[in-house]
Amino acid sequence: MKKLILIYCLLLSLLAAAQEIAPKKDSATAQTVALSSLNLQELHQEDLWVQANRSTGQHPMQIGGVKYTNGVGTAARSVLWIDLQGGSSHFSALVGVDDEVVPPTVQRELIAAGKKGHPVTNINGSVVFQIYGDGRLLWKSGILRTCFPAEKAEVNLVGIHTLVLVASSAGDSPKLDHADWANAYFTVTGAKPKTIEPPVEQAECLTPKTSPKPRINGASVFGVRPGSPFLFTIAATGQRPIKFAAANLPKGLSLDPNSGRITGVLKKRGETLVTLRADNALGVAERRFKIVCGDQLALTPQMGWNTWNVFLREPDEFKVRSAADAMVNSGLIDHGWTYINIDDCWERKPGSKDPLLNEGEPRDADGMIVPSKRFPDMKGLCDYIHNKGLKAGIYSSPAIYTCQGFPGSYQHEEKDALQYARWGFDYLKYDWCYYDSVEKDHGFSEQQKPWVTMAAALKKVDRDIIFSLSQVLEMWSWAESTGANSWRTTGDISDTWESYDAIGFTQNGREKYAGPGHWNDCDMFVVGKLGGGKLHPTRLTPNEQYTHISLWCLLTSPLLIGCDMTQLDAFTLNLLSNDEVIEVNQDPLGRQARRISRDDNVEVWAKDMEDGSKAVGLFNRGEFGNSVTVSWSQLGVNGKQTVRDLWRQLDLGSFDKSFGAPVPRHGVKLLRIKPIGN
Ligand code: GLA
Repeated sequence: MKKLILIYCLLLSLLAAAQEIAPKKDSATAQTVALSSLNLQELHQEDLWVQANRSTGQHPMQIGGVKYTNGVGTAARSVLWIDLQGGSSHFSALVGVDDEVVPPTVQRELIAAGKKGHPVTNINGSVVFQIYGDGRLLWKSGILRTCFPAEKAEVNLVGIHTLVLVASSAGDSPKLDHADWANAYFTVTGAKPKTIEPPVEQAECLTPKTSPKPRINGASVFGVRPGSPFLFTIAATGQRPIKFAAANLPKGLSLDPNSGRITGVLKKRGETLVTLRADNALGVAERRFKIVCGDQLALTPQMGWNTWNVFLREPDEFKVRSAADAMVNSGLIDHGWTYINIDDCWERKPGSKDPLLNEGEPRDADGMIVPSKRFPDMKGLCDYIHNKGLKAGIYSSPAIYTCQGFPGSYQHEEKDALQYARWGFDYLKYDWCYYDSVEKDHGFSEQQKPWVTMAAALKKVDRDIIFSLSQVLEMWSWAESTGANSWRTTGDISDTWESYDAIGFTQNGREKYAGPGHWNDCDMFVVGKLGGGKLHPTRLTPNEQYTHISLWCLLTSPLLIGCDMTQLDAFTLNLLSNDEVIEVNQDPLGRQARRISRDDNVEVWAKDMEDGSKAVGLFNRGEFGNSVTVSWSQLGVNGKQTVRDLWRQLDLGSFDKSFGAPVPRHGVKLLRIKPIGN
């Protein structure tokens, strides 16, 4: 046995030595330039860091049992743009998933299985490598998986200006997709290649200007519990003044004709169909609005703003009030944006160095939670928000501490729910974080317990509080049974394509868990000016931002703006004010989109709308413009259909069997497709 192992090791090292040899030079003047010697800072990848001559996990590179000393270690999805500067004639590399993603014993098993002709394919870690030259695919690997042998990439670069190296996830999850470009060399006869940023895009505002005529927007169905204070602001665009009216309002509710706010209390359970009306000097708009008095809230996904993505650990009352002001002054309220939510870090934090946080006990003598000096008057703040026709949200954790080490609600659930209700909050984000430290085991009932406990506490208070679960437990298949209105299906998003590409496009299959009152939550938007170190404009390109909003709308995710509301630029405002796009999210049928086709980098996602039409996203996840087509058979429809471009709010005509359009790099075409005459 020992002998066999020795021979195996010898063979491996011989193989490694053979593969380590740098490619032959083309001519006497040519030199080889290692990919790892270029400036790799330009490489885009979300998880972990790109490494020169090591794997992304910072180990010696190893693919299929063979070690490499030269190369670049990345994690899919990773993209590197290279300007060849006219000097390179050839590129070659050995590519594969780094063995480091599984322990050595598993490595040995997987490699042995591959050698016996039974490669293991149902394991995380699967990557496809692609090489593009001036926008054309020059080379593509097969699906390479953990412990598969490396595949040789070889491309002729004569006449090519720009090279793009892509390692993309082959499965849905990019988990463990550690992608190595081993022994990666250019043959260079002139100027050396240099890495560059992808091309800069112009920010084009696609949403047309709102008409001065009245239009009623936002949710057209609204859930309330009997006995709870009712607040619904009719979202309407159009020249002011607008006079609002509502026919058939149920007993207990009244409408302020000037502000469009419906308030009161409903005692009787049941559904009422109301006709809302908005009049101004230029016209009249009417819309049906269903009020459902029962147990369910959030009959359409929540729309609002949250402090975290911009203020992180430093929210305060002034910032929150300013966000509420901006929600109204920017006109976003007229498109249905409603919640103003405080995230983590609002409480007292004994032991903190910050004098605004460290004074006093976190709970009073009765065990009621006390805010820090950052929020001196929670009730006043909620009143302020409500007086603007908006609603207020707060944050806690079921553990002893929140994610940032502030007091959590553990064993204080009822008191906390009561306090939130007394202050006037309408929304609770409840974040798992350190709950592992108090659960008895990692079993199902222990995972459900904290959510069920808080849901029960919220039910007892005389106020409707939307219950939104946070954190990365894979809970979408059972979260609804806890009584929650939404739950995160992803980790924390950041403002890079790689981050939200991985978050947004991995939601397929979860559509069965979403519906009115219970939504899969893909995390908050990363558009506009964001925090995290210095306040900075989102790093997403304009097309990536259109994709982000379109995808979240199709996925019926709660829509929570995460930027500085006081610094909304024209592009961001335009992006957040498209009523036809928002309608896709707020459609009362509440269907979440699913992927109906995928071909390399292009994908089509579609969802059913209440009126029988389909909302369809043609997405291009690739590095270059591409044409994307949807056929009626994929959509399950027949006959002539009209196609409308929702971002431009423009009819594109009627089509017999399919519709195709060019879609830019990382971009989208968001459509509404209706049978003719519908
Ligand atoms: C977690 C959540 C974030 C945010 C922070 C606050 O990471 O996922 O959305 O609430 O906690 O600490």
